[in-house]
Amino acid sequence: MDKISTWIATSNIALIKYWGKRDERLILPHNSSLSITLDENLSTKTSIIFSDKIDKDMFYLNGKPELVSGEGANERLKVVDSLRKMAKVKAHFLAASVNSFPTAGGLASSASGVAALVLAAADALDLDLAKKELSIIARSGSGSACRSIFGGFVKWNRGSKEDGSDSFAEQIADHRHWPEIIDLIAIVSEKEKKISSRAGMKQTVENSILYSSRVEYAEKAVVELAEAIKKKDFERLAYLIMRDSNNMHAVMLDTWPPIFYMNDVSREIVYRINDLNANENRNIAAYTFDAGPNAHIITRKGDKNKVIDAIRDIEGVRLIEAGVGAGPKVSKEHLIDEHRLVPIGV
Ligand code: PMV
Repeated sequence: MDKISTWIATSNIALIKYWGKRDERLILPHNSSLSITLDENLSTKTSIIFSDKIDKDMFYLNGKPELVSGEGANERLKVVDSLRKMAKVKAHFLAASVNSFPTAGGLASSASGVAALVLAAADALDLDLAKKELSIIARSGSGSACRSIFGGFVKWNRGSKEDGSDSFAEQIADHRHWPEIIDLIAIVSEKEKKISSRAGMKQTVENSILYSSRVEYAEKAVVELAEAIKKKDFERLAYLIMRDSNNMHAVMLDTWPPIFYMNDVSREIVYRINDLNANENRNIAAYTFDAGPNAHIITRKGDKNKVIDAIRDIEGVRLIEAGVGAGPKVSKEHLIDEHRLVPIGV
């Protein structure tokens, strides 16, 4: 106790997506998913300390205090409580977290945020947990976070047990396996999404007519994509990525009332990438969209300029580039003043 710990975790982009839970509380998915952990261009750094000198749990995100308990509280913080119980610690915590990218920019911050929080809290509590266990705990805070515990190419096995003990992520190849791969993120809108992924996927599971066939498809696609990654078969990889994104957005549209996360600019990017691949007579780039309008364009470093040229004239689009990341790491530069027990700079 009274040990401060700081971890940096990075975001991930799912190539075969998780969209729908079979257990809402434990966050157990209907299908397995596969992602690339991104590099530190999209990261969250989190410091945490547990101490008897702290009189209530406190969490600061980008310098601003967040609600830790009661209505409107940040639900993801329950992962800290699970770890605290596991360590049989009663003390309150002070945590501070900063994102390297705009939180409201529609980019997934929950994956890196929850992963960094779980890693820092487990370390501060001196819990010696295997990555598999850390992945399970991160999953209970935010599904996609279980994949950010690992670097490189990561598969989240859906599992079948009711207690979720077989639903965790694992690395299928590390970041050195295919370093040519990059994610060009086209920021189309900086606005917060209207419907959270949590609410959107719940509604989809409840009433999309097409949902069961998505689950069946995605489960097979994960196996095929893992094979394409192993063989570094970009043609196949790109095809599977685009089909899966389209498929997920199709079940979103198919739910009632319908949900749209993509907008006209997103769709324009889809057309541009299709044209680019058609002109090249092979797939050199693949688009994929999460629960928002921003495009992630997966390509290889050598084709980056062609992709940029293809979308250059679309107005209002800003690009962020990220490579394949090595995974989370510990940091000695804390965001909390451990003597005064306040976040630095606040
Ligand atoms: O884990 P959440 O609640 O952030 O949901 C993630 C959902 C998608 O980003 C759309 C897909 C995925 O697998 O990351």
